[in-house]
Amino acid sequence: MQATPQPVLELRDYSVRFSTPDGEVAAVSDLDLSVGAGETLAVVGESGSGKSQTFNGVFGLLSRNGRATGAALVEGRNLLSMSEKGLDAIRGQDMAMVFQDPMTALNPAMKIRHQLSETLQVHKGMKRRDAEAAALAMLRLVGIPEAERRFEQYPHQLSGGMRQRVVIAMALLCRPKLIVADEPTTALDVTIQAQILDLFRDLTAEFGTALVLITHDLGVVAGIADRVAVMYAGRVVEEAAVDALFQRPAHPYTAALMRSIPRVDREIEAVDPIPGRPPDVMRPPPGCPFHPRCRHAEDRCRRERPPLAEVAPGRRAACWFPFVDAASGAVTLPAEPAHG
Ligand SMILES: Nc1ncnc2c1ncn2[C@@H]1O[C@H](COP(=O)(O)OP(=O)(O)O)[C@@H](O)[C@H]1O
Ligand SMILES: [Mg+2]
Repeated sequence: MQATPQPVLELRDYSVRFSTPDGEVAAVSDLDLSVGAGETLAVVGESGSGKSQTFNGVFGLLSRNGRATGAALVEGRNLLSMSEKGLDAIRGQDMAMVFQDPMTALNPAMKIRHQLSETLQVHKGMKRRDAEAAALAMLRLVGIPEAERRFEQYPHQLSGGMRQRVVIAMALLCRPKLIVADEPTTALDVTIQAQILDLFRDLTAEFGTALVLITHDLGVVAGIADRVAVMYAGRVVEEAAVDALFQRPAHPYTAALMRSIPRVDREIEAVDPIPGRPPDVMRPPPGCPFHPRCRHAEDRCRRERPPLAEVAPGRRAACWFPFVDAASGAVTLPAEPAHG
């Protein structure tokens, strides 16, 4: 077994707030998260839970009314206290982002050849010929058939899945230490989605890249993530190794998310959507933000917000009554109360 790798990205006491005419929006609060070389961290949660803004803040991509505070360290350097110029040098070189819509990263008027080789010419100072050779090799590596022909095409001539492969090739070209992929497969059909996730898994293993995979779909993380951080209302409510999490969630929200995943080995009726809606970020409820939707909430949950605390070795949960026996570390599920 290897020792815990030195984190490539580390968030410490990290928050993102937006000022709006109606007041301040605490989109992300008090995160402590890290991801190491060769490791894949999945960040999971319902829409609006703060996944995207967390990493937009890391990359300096927040809209103008937003501000990130705390520390976002990439190999020890705090991105939040860096000049725009310093940040520019790191973005694209040491870290890259892949978005749901590949067209946000591609120039519709540029051949694939130039989109890819330009990155290397700009960031690595490579000569055009060398850059083009490296770009073509990367296109083959990300599984694009007839790479030479694709090289001469424009983005609109490619399918959605192929375009996302091009974007992944572009992200990987400078051999970044960190890739953040924000719902990279959400727009793709299920078969292509699985292929793209396989590609991420193979490439991060090959290059030792740290990968943060953002998804609203807990169902896609099993085959690819090492660790999972579950976000709710701007906070991490559970963090665990992927196998431990899937065996037994410790937080009632994670358990509820799991019950809501359609699975091929279950009857469709077994899918059990989470009742209610996530809290209004402007007016979060007192106590635990999940308590209004929690089947197990007790008085304390309505009054005090539970901190994210270690509930078993390598496992953290923000719950007063996690499904974990503190003495043995065994995860125990309470009897499900009747619905309604
Ligand atoms: N420019 C903005 N001004 C105010 N609130 C914002 C802005 N951008 C995002 N938010 C709020 O931040 C919260 C988190 O959003 P986001 O990180 O995009 O969620 P997710 O990616 O998990 O779906 C949401 O409540 C959203 O409304
Ligand atoms: Mg998002």
